[in-house]
Amino acid sequence: MARSLVLLIFSAISAASAQLASTGLSVTFHDVNYYISPFSSGNVTISPTSLSKVPSVYGFKPVTVVQGAVAQSELPGLFTKWAASDDVFQPAFAGAVFLAGKTTCVTKKEIVPGASTVLVALSNTKIPSGPYFLEMATGSLYPVYRLYQDFAGAFVESLIPTPDGKFQPMSAQIAGSSSLTIGVPSRLYFTKTAEKPLAGVRLGVKDIYRLAGAKGSNGNRAWYNLYPASKTTGTAIQRLVDAGAQIVGLQKTSQFANGESATSDWVDYHEPFNPRGDGYQDTSSSSAGAGASIAAYEWLDIAIGSDTGGSIRGPAGVQGLFGNRPSHGLVSLDNVMPLSPTLDTPGFLIRDPYIWDAANAALYGENYHSLVSIKPKYPKKIMTLGFPTAASTDANAILIKFVNSLATFVGGSASALNLANEWAATKPAGASSATLSQLLNGTYATIITKEQIGLVREPFYKDYAAAHDGRTPFVNPVPLSRWAYGDSISSEGLQTEYKTKEMFMDWFNSKILPPVTDSAQCSSGFVLYVASSGGQNPRNAYRSVPGAPLGFSNGRISVFTEVPDSVFPLGSVPSKSAITNHVEYFPVAVDILVAKGCDGLLVKLAQDLVEAGILAAPKTGATITGGDVLMKKRAEEMGVRDLRYVD
Ligand SMILES: *[C@@H]1O[C@H](CO)[C@@H](O)[C@H](O)[C@H]1NC(C)=O
Ligand SMILES: *[C@@H]1O[C@H](CO)[C@@H](O)[C@H](O)[C@H]1NC(C)=O
Repeated sequence: MARSLVLLIFSAISAASAQLASTGLSVTFHDVNYYISPFSSGNVTISPTSLSKVPSVYGFKPVTVVQGAVAQSELPGLFTKWAASDDVFQPAFAGAVFLAGKTTCVTKKEIVPGASTVLVALSNTKIPSGPYFLEMATGSLYPVYRLYQDFAGAFVESLIPTPDGKFQPMSAQIAGSSSLTIGVPSRLYFTKTAEKPLAGVRLGVKDIYRLAGAKGSNGNRAWYNLYPASKTTGTAIQRLVDAGAQIVGLQKTSQFANGESATSDWVDYHEPFNPRGDGYQDTSSSSAGAGASIAAYEWLDIAIGSDTGGSIRGPAGVQGLFGNRPSHGLVSLDNVMPLSPTLDTPGFLIRDPYIWDAANAALYGENYHSLVSIKPKYPKKIMTLGFPTAASTDANAILIKFVNSLATFVGGSASALNLANEWAATKPAGASSATLSQLLNGTYATIITKEQIGLVREPFYKDYAAAHDGRTPFVNPVPLSRWAYGDSISSEGLQTEYKTKEMFMDWFNSKILPPVTDSAQCSSGFVLYVASSGGQNPRNAYRSVPGAPLGFSNGRISVFTEVPDSVFPLGSVPSKSAITNHVEYFPVAVDILVAKGCDGLLVKLAQDLVEAGILAAPKTGATITGGDVLMKKRAEEMGVRDLRYVD
């Protein structure tokens, strides 16, 4: 009895001591904000006195690891290269250098200008090259993250990976008005290989994808608080992680991935800020954080969103980015909150068409057929939907010039497509006399609401009621009004809309945009429509009350027909902003559709058009060609003197 009591007390104490754990440490080093990971990369042997001249905080010293056969004379050039290619490394980390192949410890002056470097022998070959913080008491090396302010409000949670393949919140916080802090690991730790084509690529994840160890919200606070952290990372995200992508955080979605506008709809969370133009344009949604972050942050490479009715294409268009709604059904969406499994697709918002191909290949696996290493036979048939015919505005001029350049590039020609007329003329036997717009008017609204009610609302309400004495959780106006519409539709009504969707899909994919058997061509044509014509949609405008997303538009074609539909940024046009009372530049972008399964053709086209100078890969900042985001510009930096400070 006494003995087991002692054991009990002892185990209680050891459990308590095991609960004291580091969540990492924030430091500044030469005015840069860093975070020292709590998870060691490995150990080195050091003599306690050898690094006495290297600065130290809480027993950690900044050091650099250099693996491989690097001669001492090559170090200055190597460090210059690293500082230019990696935003985390700076030469100040080279006060102590652990160098593979070195046998003795020496102090050198000429490696970093104006500083001395202690060169230490390194026997541990497993630790990747790059900057570290060395814990002097243990000899453990901890990875370094650089910290950035999420000034666009694009993230809901900052995450770091844990050694067991899960994720945990990052504890660091740098100064920022109502902004999260995001940490990015040094790019030097990662080497691209055939198995890890996304090694070190920094990834933001829409907060509908569940990550092991992380809580999710779907844009709803009640959901976040009700459910525990996920035990599993779903197939889609796990594929990106396995390919080497580095997840830095979860990003904002409009609620339950339903489209929302800034002013009145985003009740639970604040809509992110679109960095383009005056900085107060709606981001579009639902992959709002994905679009805002890729348009604002050079330190972030890709963001994965989802597109059911335009949730990737909308943000890509208004922020001037590449973005893809893929062919439907390329990868399992287990552990992802559904809007409508019949229509949901996972895709990227991205600036670099080369990373785009690798990311698609990792995410869609064997269902993605990359064409980057061959010379494709581009389809010569270009069909435009609702395109301008005269260069009457700057945006129209850009759109027309692009179509003409594309036609020349593929050696084909463009012609206007009138889908309603085509339907009327060639619709399948058995189709009603309704116009295409009448036929498809309620299809999207019915399918998404009926499916989300069953898959999300019902279990959520039941779980919430059980935990909260029968109460109903708070839900934003848009999903509520959409679900109310779904409640008004019978299950026969849903079955009718499924049949309508199938009928339109079969017609479009055989009559308008069939695939071809030659895999180097894949699609019989391109279909283009305008994604964004540089118009303004400011986030301070009050709008009408939300309702069901009825109606048919060009953006719904790929939704119903399951074909890939990617946004290509084309340029920016000037117009006067009512926010700044000044001329600002707003993006112009186009959507391009190809036949189902031809996703690789669109990415290869993006690469080829960039190489031909017909397109430019978009940059971060106020315009797609760069420039400081307006709200980040400081008066001093703009040469304003004698600022008035009010006490
Ligand atoms: C490093 O050393 C510590 C003890 O100082 C040990 O607990 C840890 O497992 C070692 N780490 C590695 C990666 O070898
Ligand atoms: C779509 O449905 C709504 C609601 O029934 C109706 O008001 C609208 O006129 C319809 N539009 C078309 C094109 O049929």
